[in-house]
Amino acid sequence: MQTIRQIVLLRSAIAAFRAEGASVALVPTMGALHDGHMALIEAAKRDGRKVVASIFVNPRQFGPNEDLARYPRREGTDSQMLTKAGCDLLWAPGVEEMYPDGFATNISVTGVSDGLDGAARPGHFDGVATVVAKLFNQVRPDVALFGEKDFQQLAVIRRMVLDLDFGIEIIGVPTQREDDGLARSSRNIYLDESERARAVALPRALGVAAREIERGGEVATALASAHDMLAAAGFEVDYVSLVDAETLDENPAPDRPLRLLAAARIGTTRLIDNIAVDLRNHP
Ligand code: PAF
Repeated sequence: MQTIRQIVLLRSAIAAFRAEGASVALVPTMGALHDGHMALIEAAKRDGRKVVASIFVNPRQFGPNEDLARYPRREGTDSQMLTKAGCDLLWAPGVEEMYPDGFATNISVTGVSDGLDGAARPGHFDGVATVVAKLFNQVRPDVALFGEKDFQQLAVIRRMVLDLDFGIEIIGVPTQREDDGLARSSRNIYLDESERARAVALPRALGVAAREIERGGEVATALASAHDMLAAAGFEVDYVSLVDAETLDENPAPDRPLRLLAAARIGTTRLIDNIAVDLRNHP
């Protein structure tokens, strides 16, 4: 696997892939890779695609009091994992390459970015949309893959790709979970032993609430119970919300695909998770 840090060299490497007639898949990441990312690489490799993984801890998507400084950075291990997984190219630009002096553009995807994490983390999705648009223009992939764990991010990127005519197929890959159900995340390493044990309340609360809603239970009651389960495990809850799976409208029509999303803090670690809810075949 080649590692490239300059756009001009990236362009030549991608041109060489194209000259072989290959289609190109991009897996954007911020590093600290885990099995969730490896599932993205596996899916990216399908149909003989050349796989480009990017590692860039994007300062523009962290708020002033967030974890930019302590976000795990371990390119050596990441690079070994990517090589083993069959990734063809690691795109690892520095901050100056991504945001040279004078950089002044901001991409804001209104609507889908506004609620949930967008409300809890002002500016976060502008930072994500801006860097992902840049990655798309740098790599010009045919497809790009993102985990469903960051469900709102996936919705924001799908909207941006449609609105800005990127012509890139966006593939959402199901959330990879630990044996007890906790969603794999680079931030799980922040959890101490007790927090890790209690963190499983997040997928459990979502699962219980989703089944309750699918059985015809009151949405407000199910959301309140999920909230209580999380609080009982020691979480400080940002939100538990049932939304339209495409628009993220928080007053969804029941005949649409729905998603139950939650964000909550345990100790100093903020975790997010989500689960599908389908009322279409239920009473
Ligand atoms: O999901 C992530 O790791 C990041 O938000 C992304 C998409 C790589 C943009 O920095």
